[in-house]
Amino acid sequence: MFNLGNLVLKGNGEYGGRDKQRKDGSEDFPADTGGGAGSGVQYFCDRSLFLIMSAFINKSLIIIYKKFDIYGATKRGKRKSMEKRKGTEGPGMKSWGKGLSESGVSRDPFEQFGIWYKEAVMTERTEQNAMIISTAGKEGMPSVRTVLLKSFDKDGFVFYTNYGSLKGKELAENPRAAILFLWKETERQVRIRGKVIKTNKGESEAYFRSRPRESQLGAWASKQGEWLKDREHLIETYEKYRKEFEGKEVPMPEYWGGYRVVPTEFEFWQGRENRMHDRICYSLKGYGWHIYRLSP
Ligand SMILES: Cc1cc2nc3c(=O)[nH]c(=O)nc-3n(C[C@H](O)[C@H](O)[C@H](O)COP(=O)(O)O)c2cc1C
Repeated sequence: MFNLGNLVLKGNGEYGGRDKQRKDGSEDFPADTGGGAGSGVQYFCDRSLFLIMSAFINKSLIIIYKKFDIYGATKRGKRKSMEKRKGTEGPGMKSWGKGLSESGVSRDPFEQFGIWYKEAVMTERTEQNAMIISTAGKEGMPSVRTVLLKSFDKDGFVFYTNYGSLKGKELAENPRAAILFLWKETERQVRIRGKVIKTNKGESEAYFRSRPRESQLGAWASKQGEWLKDREHLIETYEKYRKEFEGKEVPMPEYWGGYRVVPTEFEFWQGRENRMHDRICYSLKGYGWHIYRLSP
């Protein structure tokens, strides 16, 4: 946003307009013609000629590009340099250039997730922990939203929310969910399905305590999912709690806490050339993980 603003400014001012006077004091047009009718006609002719020439060159370039498939080659070149950057070629191959195989992945899907997560932290510009979570109540109508993954280990994937929200209500009726991570830079997606349990109060408290005070107050101010008269009402409620807890520790609201998604299925999707993508799945069978491949 800031950069774009700068560019626009430069385009209209510093670089875009015709400078009346250069830094060395010389002008764009000789002084004797400056401002006269002759300079206007001359300028108009020069400019028209320039525009006609540019259009002609542009058109010729497009014809040459199409005739010799330069555009396709450029695209292929870009892809190749992307691949290089991603590590399919040359020394220092990274795991995201290699694709996925049944025998190459970890036997443990949590470990495999950990490898990919670390690489997402390295490659994604922002919010590699953004997680899409889908739930459905007893009516079976699915709903979906983004939350932030706060921790994961062999026990599951933890996020925090308001227990009174739509997702909270749906999870109370049907404690199962599907979650999804999309990591665009490495052309990866991870899908997970499983049952959902609440984190214990101690764990939720510990996380709540780690949040900034403003976010703690926000948890009090927002009854997530409830009808709201207007934004002013939300701000007034925030102010009310700010005063109420002034000089005190903000307690964790009863209706707030974590959920842990305990997986029974994983799918690791790796984008490959020509849509020949890899999909390696894990499904919990008894005490072990069954690993198999799906068609892309
Ligand atoms: C990037 C991002 C991260 C979010 N993280 C959370 C989160 O961690 N917890 C949460 O309750 N809502 C989070 N939200 C808001 C939710 O997407 C959603 O609006 C809210 O939880 C209400 O959902 P529900 O009405 O389906 O329960 C996030 C939204 C975005 C866009």
